[in-house]
Parts: sequence; C-alpha cells; structure tokens
Amino acid sequence: MKTLTVRISRFDPAKDEGSHFESYTVRMNEGARVLNVLHAIHDTLDPSLSFRYSCASGQCGSCAVRVNGEPVLACMEEAKDNITIEPINLPVKKDLVVDLLPTLEAIAFILPVEHAVLPKKSEIDAMKPLKDCIECLACVSVCPAVDVTTFLGPTAMRQEMRLALDPRDSGDRITDAVREGLFTCTTCQACWKVCPKEIEIPAKAIEKLRAQANKRGFTLSRHLEVAALIRETGRSVPRTSESFLEKMSDTVEPYGQVRATVGFFVGCMYNYRQQQSALDAMEVLRRNGIRIIIPKEQVCCGSPLIRTGQLALVEDLQKRNIETFRSRGIDTVLTMCAGCGTTLKNDYKTPFRVIDINELLTQYGIEPPARLPIKAMYHDPCHLMRGQGIRDQPRELIRQVVELVEMPSICCGSGGGVRSGNPDEAAALGSRRGEEIKKTGAEIVITSCPFCEFHIAGHTDKPVKNIASVLLEGYREKDRQMGKPPKI
Ligand code: SF4
Ligand code: SF4
Ligand code: FES
Repeated sequence: MKTLTVRISRFDPAKDEGSHFESYTVRMNEGARVLNVLHAIHDTLDPSLSFRYSCASGQCGSCAVRVNGEPVLACMEEAKDNITIEPINLPVKKDLVVDLLPTLEAIAFILPVEHAVLPKKSEIDAMKPLKDCIECLACVSVCPAVDVTTFLGPTAMRQEMRLALDPRDSGDRITDAVREGLFTCTTCQACWKVCPKEIEIPAKAIEKLRAQANKRGFTLSRHLEVAALIRETGRSVPRTSESFLEKMSDTVEPYGQVRATVGFFVGCMYNYRQQQSALDAMEVLRRNGIRIIIPKEQVCCGSPLIRTGQLALVEDLQKRNIETFRSRGIDTVLTMCAGCGTTLKNDYKTPFRVIDINELLTQYGIEPPARLPIKAMYHDPCHLMRGQGIRDQPRELIRQVVELVEMPSICCGSGGGVRSGNPDEAAALGSRRGEEIKKTGAEIVITSCPFCEFHIAGHTDKPVKNIASVLLEGYREKDRQMGKPPKI
C-alpha cells in the first residue's frame, strides 16, 4: 500500500463561478491507476466528485483526463503522489466531466453506396491505421487549430480519411474535409502524441487528405505560389540578398582539433531569412571541434510541399539532396531547422545519418560558455520535440548559459503552411504564445527553428534568439572575461 495526495480540479455549475483545486489523500495498492484513485476519493471522501468511465481497460475512451497537464486515460495511467488531475481541454460540465457531444456528433458517418462491394485487402490495410479510435477526444483537446478556428479537429479528419479509403462509402470526403478546416492544421503532431491508440493523424490523415485535395484543385493559392517558387528556384523562400550558401566556403574548419565532420543541410529559411542564426551556429560548431562541409547544390527539403499535399516535385528534391551529400561521401548530415530535420529523418530514406544540432552538441559535449545573467524561456519547436523527439537536449545546452524558465509546449502557429495559407490563424496562435511568454517573466525567448524564431518575433516584445546565438554570446562573454581577443 502507498499513500497518495492528489489535487483535483473541481467545478459545480450549480454553485461555482469557476473551477478550483481540492487536495485529497488516499491509501492505494501499489500499481493503482488514476481511475482507482478517483473511485477511492468518491467512495470514501467525497461522493460529489464527478468523473466518467466505463470499460476500465483502455477500450471505451470515456475516462480521458489531464494528469499534470497531459491528456491520458485515467484507467491506464499509473497514479503517482502529488499529481494534478484536471478535465481535458473541452467545455466542462462538472468536475472532470466534459461535453463530448458536439464534437462526437460532428464526426462523419458512413453514407452507404447502393451496390456496395467489400474493400480489397489493400484498402483494408490502408484503413487500418485510422480505425482504432475510441473517441476519447484527447486529440481534439490539445489541437491548437481547434482553439482559434472552426476546424472540426483531428479525429474528424481521421474519420474523413478512413471513409475516403472505404469503397462502401459514397460521401465526398475531400470536399467535406476542406470545408471542415483541413488547411487549418499546423501539423504540430500534438494529436498523435497524446492519442492512446497512437493514431498518426497528421501523416496518415491530414497530409493524405491534402494530397487528394491537391488533385481536386483545392490547394490554397499561397501554397501553390510556394510550390511554383520551389519549381523555379529550388527554394521555398524568395531570394532577397546573397544567400548563406553563397557566403560560405565549401568546408569550414574548426578552431582546434577535429572531433567530427558533418555535412550541413541549411534549409531555405536559414539560407535567406534567418542567416545570422546559421552563421552563429557555424561559429559554435567550429569552437567545439566540428568540421562542416557545405555542399552548394542542396535544395529545399520539400517539407512545405509534403505538409500541404503537393507531392509532384518531392521525389526530385529528395533525389537531388540525397545525391548531393552522398556524392561527397558524407555519412552524417546536420540540420538546425526543425522542419528540415523532421523531413530528412521521417520523409526521406537517406543513406546517411541525420542529426539535429542540439543532438550533435549534447552528444559530443560542448566547451562550457560563460553564464549570462539572463532569464530565458525555451519554445519547443513542434517538429523538433514531437517530430524528432528532441526535448531535453536544447534544455541541457541552454542551462549551461542562462537561467531557464518553462512554459507549456504549444504550437506557435507557423507550421503546416498555416502562416502562409491562413495568416489570421497563425497570428492568433502567435499572439497566444506572446501572452504565455509575458506570464513567464523571461527576458528573452530561445528556440531552435527558423520558422518559430521568425513567427514568434512578430508576437512578443522580447528578443527571440536561436539557441546557437545564445551559446555564442556565452563564448564571447567568456573570451571577454578571460581578457582574450574574441576568437569569433
Ligand atoms: S497536427 Fe496539430 S493542428 Fe493538426 S490536427 Fe493534430 S493537433 Fe491539430
Ligand atoms: S484519434 Fe486517438 S486521441 Fe483522438 S479521439 Fe481517437 S483515440 Fe482519442
Ligand atoms: S474507462 Fe474505458 S478507456 Fe478508460
């Protein structure tokens, strides 16, 4: 047996104006689940506590709650001491019970064709990754697009795609999905990461629906313009001045002994728009013994096309990029754009290893920089944290140079073609980030993605810096303190 104290969000619409927390202490068996704790509190301490459950075995989806801020199934989540239990982020009816009905009612159902034929094996296989939904709505509760638009949400898109693949359905699923907000998804992947059935909605439903929508002529005009730019220039960002690739020599040698050699995949944003961050990163790498090879023939990774369902050029871009690095004998390709990194890792089949700069620097270990007297918050880029599973490494680096304060990891609104295609939505999500940043009391914002850097800078009065730039500031301060002429 163990003693557990938990905090639970309580709200009774008959007497409360808003929700408040109450603490309860219960004795539980080892291995007890959150649902067992809720039962114990209800049965022994407070029979007025309301929560939902049915199967108690992860099958019905009715018990979804947030534990320490993360949506989970109460019946599957192990109960720990000092946890906070809240309703998922949907309208609350009472305590932990939320209103599921409006969302569930809006999910499409099959419209049978007159002379239905059974699906073929290939169609069944295609539907499989989309059919295990237990309608817990955890995905909807974390979707940033749902919060600021009329988007029906991830599981509605999952169902549209499932039905689009089913020969027994007569509905026009692509038109429906577009009308329901298909292009408002930022591809942040939050829905996938909280889904208890691990349904990969962004790649298996959203991007697939967008690809179908492209064939039907539904692609947004701004996305078509980006595709045309890539076709003409090989880049998704228009040229404004000399590019990073033009400025740099083919090989950048480190200041000291060579500890590793990598090929650098620069990405369109760092090539043209956020060049200083990439230049700062080169200096940090040189200082830490990394030799950098920069092949000039590299082109856009294709991420803006894949995320918006415009696949015609993708194979060609993939081939060109792979050949560029392969022909130089490069076995490790470094990325510092979260979007490029996730694309090279997850949408390419590369004959080389792809590594993000945060992974590389923590793997090899860095020369300690001087500490700067600054309080900073770190914004997790979705395509770094969820797309590549890189959460701890940036924090490890940042803590070596400044004080780090945390804030919830939520999409800034710049991804998935939303900044170009739905600027109002992108601005609404960016403003929400701006508000969160204000609450932390941080003096600067640090991130590790050019899209986040660029977008968040438009929604906060705090300086937004790349992690590499902050490390470089730490090195410069170290040189200054030691009375050395700046190496960099
Ligand atoms: S990827 Fe993000 S924005 Fe898109 S449906 Fe999932 S949670 Fe919503
Ligand atoms: S897709 Fe996953 S998270 Fe969303 S309702 Fe279905 S089971 Fe729950
Ligand atoms: S009670 Fe059914 S999934 Fe938890």
